[in-house]
Amino acid sequence: MPPLTMTSLFCGSFFLFLVLLTGADAGGEKKAAAGSKPWMDTGGLSRAAFPAGFTFGTAASAYQVEGMAHKDGRGPSIWDAFVKIPGQIANNATGDVTVDEYHRYKDDVDIMKKMNFDAYRFSISWSRIFPEGAGRVNWKGVAYYSRLIDYLIQQGITPYANLYHYDLPEALEKKYNGLLSKQIVEDFANYADFCFKVFGDRVKYWMTFNEPRVVAALGYDDGTFAPGRCSKCSAGNSATEPYIVAHNLILSHAAAVRRYREKYQAQQKGRIGILLDFVWYEPLTDSKDDQDAAQRSRDFHIGWFLHPIIYGEYPKSMQVIVRERLPRFTEEEIKIVKGSIDYVGINQYTAYYISNPQHPNQGNPTRYQSDWNAQFWYERNGVPIGPRAHSTWLYIVPWGMYKAVTYVKEHYGNPVVILSENGMDDPGNVTLRQGLHDTVRINYYRSYISQLKRAIDDGAHVIGYFAWSLLDNFEWRSGYTSRFGLVYIDYKTLQRYPKMSAYWFRQVLQRAEGMDGAAGDPRGKRKATTPTTARQGDRDHDWDEEEEMKQFYALIGKIREIKESLSRSTTTAPKRSKAAPTLWMPAFKMEDFQHRGEAERSTAAAEEEEEKTRKEEHSSLDLNLSL
Ligand SMILES: *[C@@H]1O[C@H](CO)[C@@H](O)[C@H](O)[C@H]1NC(C)=O
Ligand SMILES: *[C@@H]1O[C@H](CO)[C@@H](O)[C@H](O)[C@H]1NC(C)=O
Repeated sequence: MPPLTMTSLFCGSFFLFLVLLTGADAGGEKKAAAGSKPWMDTGGLSRAAFPAGFTFGTAASAYQVEGMAHKDGRGPSIWDAFVKIPGQIANNATGDVTVDEYHRYKDDVDIMKKMNFDAYRFSISWSRIFPEGAGRVNWKGVAYYSRLIDYLIQQGITPYANLYHYDLPEALEKKYNGLLSKQIVEDFANYADFCFKVFGDRVKYWMTFNEPRVVAALGYDDGTFAPGRCSKCSAGNSATEPYIVAHNLILSHAAAVRRYREKYQAQQKGRIGILLDFVWYEPLTDSKDDQDAAQRSRDFHIGWFLHPIIYGEYPKSMQVIVRERLPRFTEEEIKIVKGSIDYVGINQYTAYYISNPQHPNQGNPTRYQSDWNAQFWYERNGVPIGPRAHSTWLYIVPWGMYKAVTYVKEHYGNPVVILSENGMDDPGNVTLRQGLHDTVRINYYRSYISQLKRAIDDGAHVIGYFAWSLLDNFEWRSGYTSRFGLVYIDYKTLQRYPKMSAYWFRQVLQRAEGMDGAAGDPRGKRKATTPTTARQGDRDHDWDEEEEMKQFYALIGKIREIKESLSRSTTTAPKRSKAAPTLWMPAFKMEDFQHRGEAERSTAAAEEEEEKTRKEEHSSLDLNLSL
């Protein structure tokens, strides 16, 4: 998911609003579909509420989940180099091991299946396939993705493969300054071509780049993402390089799509697109100036990429402001860029207010972000736009989802959209107990997905939805201090513990009797799969689903009990503002949650500790959380 870059931030303390979001079990009485006990409020969401064949999945990226960063022949990417710079990443964390999906992919796919998801959007690490970016193939890397894809299909989960998620091979950075050079276009197309050739018999949903805007803005304007270039950094130019990089990314995308269409699509019958991050920008006031500033912000954000792809040129506002610093597409390039998507992925998390600055920039342009000439606000008339999640950039604004999706529909000819990321994070140092009881996340998903449904009901052509992310994982600069997962990771043991939100999805995504596992195939084809209820007795790992469910029923039951006793014993509502801090500011030691280096299978000691934690959980549930 994308951290944001912005020039002016207004941070407040919004505890009160966080509390308002808790209390997810309020409607727990609602009857769920036959076959499972009703125990969570789905808010009326179910598969039946979405168009036939709508796909639900989770998303992740290679560097954030795979681990094995320096093993089995993988070459370094620019992120392997970047995380080594002291002070760049919280607690100097790395993705060397992270959640070890490289070895544990079967467990993770099994969890997806148990949670009734249809699809998994993963990314392929370019330098795991081509350690030097081009030329020599690392067949061990090819074999890994092949195993993952096969297992997904075997379990009835449709693979969605993304070719690039921030992780350029370091060799190409060294060789020709990576994305700053036009040589990247040919190398990326060759890499993509290879992937189509070896995986395209099984992968029917391709994406070229994830959030190219974040790559260009954070990597080359802020310098806070790899490769860490900016005007104030040791190297870089924030006024020109973001635009050059974005231009090369668009051309690389288009070149890869052309290869797919010319060489593979007719035979493989898959589809291909790109993934763009999109924050909704709402004018702070109704003034024309503020409305224009908000429109400029949308142009500089999603328009930067989507406009050329749909219309063959950058947004007019960008052409006028950036002038000669904005590269131009040649006639030949326009031909391959325009129309180069079968669908567009939209990563949507948050929204901000935008005003026209009272003192606009004058004189020399300094950077991409100041070219926007827009002021960010997190509140209007003292009222926050929404409660804040853990990340400083992530305000919870469900209506932003509706507006963002509707904007793409109205401004870009209602393209086919995959809502390719959406989610929120808790602090990395929440305990297992606190982490599992993620009622704020349930409310987040329920309200955002309801707004997405509204946009679809109003005509937006959305064919799928992907939650970010299945697991807690390496969150770029935040390292392991941010948890976006539906599944909690104990970083000491790498054990996976589904959170309440995972069970919530499981309930929402229940299939009607007789519906098979590939219900999410947007082309409407149903592949034969094993029934979702089948036990996998032949598996070497075992996830005790029933035990987990019991634990959650106990939790929910106890909360109700306490709530009832409270409402009996007092006429005034419980003080919410006192309850909230225990969820977000618990007493624990940071060391307990720091990343412990190389993955270790649980030792006897770790198991003992786990058992202790479990016992504690049953005896002292944190009942403040949803009161
Ligand atoms: C990160 O590494 C640097 C250099 O080795 C060290 O000075 C710093 O204390 C480390 N920070 C943390 C949080 O471990
Ligand atoms: C938990 O982590 C946050 C940073 O993410 C930090 O500000 C806070 O002090 C930590 N809490 C404890 C009790 O260590």
